[in-house]
Amino acid sequence: MRVAIEPIKRIVVRPGPPLEGTVAVAGAKNSVLKLMAATLLAEGSYRLRNVPRITDVESMADLLRAAGCTVGWSPQAASTLDIAVPAEIEPLAPYEIVEKFRASVIVLGPMLARCGEARVALPGGDDLGPRPIDMHVRGLSELGAELEVVHGNIVARASNLLGTRVLLEFPSVGATENLVMAASAAKGTTVIDNAAREPEIADLCEMLNRMGASIAGAGSPTLVIEGTGDAEALHETDHTVIGDRVEAATYLAAVGVAGGELTIVGARRDHMAMLAQKLGEMGMRVSAGADGVWAFSPGRLRSVDCSTLPYPGLATDYKPFLVTMLAVASGVGIVTENLFAGRFRYVDELRRMGADIRTDAHHAVVRGVERLSGAPVKATDIRAGAALAVAGLGAEGTTVVSDAHHVARGYEDLAGKLASVGADIRAE
Ligand code: UD1
Repeated sequence: MRVAIEPIKRIVVRPGPPLEGTVAVAGAKNSVLKLMAATLLAEGSYRLRNVPRITDVESMADLLRAAGCTVGWSPQAASTLDIAVPAEIEPLAPYEIVEKFRASVIVLGPMLARCGEARVALPGGDDLGPRPIDMHVRGLSELGAELEVVHGNIVARASNLLGTRVLLEFPSVGATENLVMAASAAKGTTVIDNAAREPEIADLCEMLNRMGASIAGAGSPTLVIEGTGDAEALHETDHTVIGDRVEAATYLAAVGVAGGELTIVGARRDHMAMLAQKLGEMGMRVSAGADGVWAFSPGRLRSVDCSTLPYPGLATDYKPFLVTMLAVASGVGIVTENLFAGRFRYVDELRRMGADIRTDAHHAVVRGVERLSGAPVKATDIRAGAALAVAGLGAEGTTVVSDAHHVARGYEDLAGKLASVGADIRAE
């Protein structure tokens, strides 16, 4: 059975009453894609639970199929993906699939560790400016691999991966993940210093440990991996994906803009503590509940300054939501992007809705206006599209977000979920 997802073209939003009720987040996109890649390390039948039905999962499923795996939704349990990994896999990631989503480069580490070679087309994905992979390449070569770019592919070879000390220049999420997976099957001990600390990395380490790997320090800047010496020593497992903190941030922004009170089931406040703190400064209340996060917004929020940083700092993925909230808050907020160049493209779209935002290199100066005005706007990437839909909740008239297929790459049913808590929104 293939992963079937309804195609969407646009999201139509009108202002409505304050939001009220309960909404559930799906499993984290940025976790599940890596967990799916991790299955390539060892033969067997894997079961992943709490998997979101999004197009990036479909693309990763296609990548696994191209390597020889069988992937399908479980007929017995909702949101459960079954993956059968054969005794021999093809260590290839073809361009037609890779170009759809950047996270595809994550198959490099597991394919190399399992097969001693891999050929992975260079990635595409969100239009977020240049996104190099030099840290992935450098780390894998420190483990003993030889890598070169041939005809648009990264071609990697390693007869023997050997544990070593790797110091990352920057706590890159993707490089940390590729290295953890390769090191799990390398011979000897690998220490990754300045490792990324995102909850999704801890989720990956937990699954790898369940597969027989030995990784200590997940969630800290130093990961210590005792390699098994052979991918054959790893084995199949079941794993439940953590909740999506960026989807949760989307609903927090929605309640921030529309006002009201929401319970976000499946979200973890401890995974988004810095965001909760910022929203508190803006006038919202965000607290941990028994099965999720509870949030309340009294009405118009106050502006604050924000800077994106690696975890536990404010995630760059939250930024479009923060900018959207600031666009209608009282006062002026300065937002600084420290991770990616060119992550302000949606600002032009917000301006079309009447937002007063000036950008200069890594900074955006956002002067809050009383009200945005609904307009036709374009989703430039997953989060930008979702943020524009959220902006529409607080805008006068109708907002139509086109190119909404970007949104479906990362959200199961954004419009349906927001409509279920009172928003006037639908996907077409
Ligand atoms: C992941 C997330 C993405 C999130 C980002 C930062 C997935 C699928 N995507 O992306 O949503 O915004 O983390 O939290 O999980 N860099 C290099 N060389 C490298 C690798 C990275 O220069 O080899 C730079 C990047 O260009 C960027 C910064 O390091 O400026 C952070 O990138 P990284 O943490 O690797 O992000 P991704 O894993 O690509």
